[in-house]
Amino acid sequence: MTATQDPQNTAPRAGQHNLPSYLDPNNIGPYEIFLEQVERVTPYLGKLAYWVETLKRPKRILVVDVPIHLDDGTVAHFEGYRVQHNTSRGPAKGGVRYHQDVTLSEVMALSAWMTVKNAAVNLPYGGGKGGIRIDPRKYSVGELERLTRRYTTEIGLIIGPDKDIPAPDVNTNPQTMAWMMDTYSMNVGRTATGVVTGKPVSLGGSLGRGDATGRGVFVTGAEALKKMGLPLEGARVAVQGFGNVGNAAARIFHDHGAKIVAIQDVTGTVYSSAGIDPYKAAEHLGRTGRITDLEGTEAIARDSFWDVDCDVLIPAALEKQITLDNASRIKAKLIVEGANGPTIPAADDLLAERGVVVVPDVLANAGGVTVSYFEWVQDFSSFFWTEDEINNRLDRIMREAFLSLWDVKERHGVTLRTAVYIVACTRVLEARALRGLYP
Ligand SMILES: NC(=O)c1ccc[n+]([C@@H]2O[C@H](COP(=O)([O-])OP(=O)(O)OC[C@H]3O[C@@H](n4cnc5c(N)ncnc54)[C@H](O)[C@@H]3O)[C@@H](O)[C@H]2O)c1
Repeated sequence: MTATQDPQNTAPRAGQHNLPSYLDPNNIGPYEIFLEQVERVTPYLGKLAYWVETLKRPKRILVVDVPIHLDDGTVAHFEGYRVQHNTSRGPAKGGVRYHQDVTLSEVMALSAWMTVKNAAVNLPYGGGKGGIRIDPRKYSVGELERLTRRYTTEIGLIIGPDKDIPAPDVNTNPQTMAWMMDTYSMNVGRTATGVVTGKPVSLGGSLGRGDATGRGVFVTGAEALKKMGLPLEGARVAVQGFGNVGNAAARIFHDHGAKIVAIQDVTGTVYSSAGIDPYKAAEHLGRTGRITDLEGTEAIARDSFWDVDCDVLIPAALEKQITLDNASRIKAKLIVEGANGPTIPAADDLLAERGVVVVPDVLANAGGVTVSYFEWVQDFSSFFWTEDEINNRLDRIMREAFLSLWDVKERHGVTLRTAVYIVACTRVLEARALRGLYP
């Protein structure tokens, strides 16, 4: 007698569980946001909805222990992850995050958003993401190098230039990528530059990669303002997060005549109705290690950031920042999501009701992975493009993606986020359906 014939066996049939056992149904974490986004798009998928379960379950998850010698002679163990959410359209692609609050659910969500993002701008990639549960500010450069090398070796089983290509994310940078590239290369016995992107330019990195995500935030934000009939010149912009994405986005908006009125980072929040020069802010942050006490600005309470009078809001820090508590207070008419997952779905609904336009993360911050794709292509051919060529191609891809997705939004009468999910999920599931199930 098989398990399904056994009348005593009331368990659902294999594969019919709603949630994998490694997620807590009472506290699913960030992956819950993604699951809800998939629910919302399903009615628009037509016959492809047959395959929708594919999107809800990551293809492959690797959890690794990362032990290192600390400078004081002791050994410390860290939890590391690499998740390949989907590879139907090509190798997995997505960043690596070092943060004390990283969880499996978070890395799953981030990898799933990479699947959607890569499909949204039509890059030949699936989605992946990695992370280590560590507060890197508490460790020396040597410790971080050992951590990165051991982590790379542990996930070396599943990464590779044609399998899964990591890149920088929160608290990782070109130096981290250089260590990853070197470690992977040592392990395979040849220099494999294409295993990671976001490398230093002298190691096969691409010109323009540093500012690429912020540039994409700008291009999509400027196009959205045009569609909304609002001027870019003089637009008041508030930025949360002043790292790779927030800093570049602020500079490029400023360079095009917009006015940065507030900046918040982990150290505090500064405001100036007259406008903040982001170049001076970056110099001040580099020199003092904090955004507060910046000349010509006033410090405001962390929560007051959401009340700032502005036209454009750029969340560029972490996920779950725009919630039901602050969504009704936001004054901006346009939100351009530099960060991944900054808006919870209920807040998204409230913003839509209020007529606030949101350029979703899976489109707005796709500039980074687009130039990562250029870097990967350049590494394969060992032929490098000029910065102008890169920026022009990036601007064109982001602008064309924005305009075609805006059309889908108008045609279906949905939010821009749902429009992006309709197009991206259709592309992923079309590939799934055409490939069929192996064996
Ligand atoms: N780097 C990229 O190319 C890239 C690409 C796509 C998406 N993203 C997303 O953009 C976001 C930022 O990434 P990044 O690469 O700029 O990281 P980063 O580490 O360079 O900067 C993060 C910034 O967020 C600030 N921050 C952290 N916690 C905060 C808090 N609680 N409140 C306010 N500010 C806080 C930090 O002070 C810092 O300024 C992340 O969601 C990341 O996944 C990054």
